[in-house]
Amino acid sequence: MKKLASLALAGLLIASGAAMAAEGQKTAKDVSFSFEGPFGTFDRQQLQRGYKVYKEVCANCHSMRLVKFRNLAEGGIFNEEQVKALAATYTVKDGPDASGEMFDRPGLPSDAFPSPFANDEAAKAANGGAVPPDLSLLTKSRPGWYGTFNQLWNGIGGPQYIYSVLTGYEETPAELAAEQPEGKYYNPYFGAGHWIGMPPPLSEGQVTFDDGAPNTVDAMSHDVAAFLAFTAEPKMEERKELGFMVLIYLAVFTALLYLVKKKLWADVH
Ligand code: HEC
Repeated sequence: MKKLASLALAGLLIASGAAMAAEGQKTAKDVSFSFEGPFGTFDRQQLQRGYKVYKEVCANCHSMRLVKFRNLAEGGIFNEEQVKALAATYTVKDGPDASGEMFDRPGLPSDAFPSPFANDEAAKAANGGAVPPDLSLLTKSRPGWYGTFNQLWNGIGGPQYIYSVLTGYEETPAELAAEQPEGKYYNPYFGAGHWIGMPPPLSEGQVTFDDGAPNTVDAMSHDVAAFLAFTAEPKMEERKELGFMVLIYLAVFTALLYLVKKKLWADVH
């Protein structure tokens, strides 16, 4: 019976794992991150590097509307002074002022990251008709792999998806060359089918890290994917800690209930 059940479960896992991915899409590469598992935490140095990659490269096209500069201090990536200084390097639209005009001013920690384009139409026009999606929550909205059980067990693979798209550009296979749309690139990891409107954004050595960490395409992709996992769930560590405390509490409570039950029923034969 047990054997049968585990066979059925295995069958389900395999069946559901294969379903759902867009045609021709490859499952994300299974790179590991420091924040995986019930006790995993963010690597602050890596998040600093990931922020730098976002700022110097991705922010030219992608917005991050739901992230405020102060979130970087709250998450312990930078201290308050650093965040103040870093916010001031951005220009934010504010207003209207007393005469009804909008005006530009340096960013404050309470501001959200400004968008590189005034609106979606402008973004489209600058990117060959494709809108670069907002990156704030992308690791939560794009699965890297599929299958209910697989996702329950391994997470949805959002950071792995980002990493895979960034490192996944390949030479167009000969049999597809004829149908390659103008201005699109071949990337079998891209969720909406293998033609992506984003030119390969990273090249070897593009961003120099203050901590001297390697800056290969691979390393930068890993760092920025980790940073985007942070922006999507800045309170992940607190959530895990609380979950663990609740489990301990429940375990102690169960033991107490068991002892009470034993005592209460001790005289009943
Ligand atoms: C030159 C502009 C440009 C830059 C720079 C750029 N992107 Fe993109 N990106 C785009 C566009 C445009 C799309 C939408 C492509 C499409 O829909 O075909 C896109 C799509 C993506 C996707 C796929 C999203 C999805 O819908 O599944 C990811 C992930 C991504 N970008 C991450 C990044 C990261 C991380 C960086 C920085 C390392 C970056 N991009 C830099 C323009 C850019």
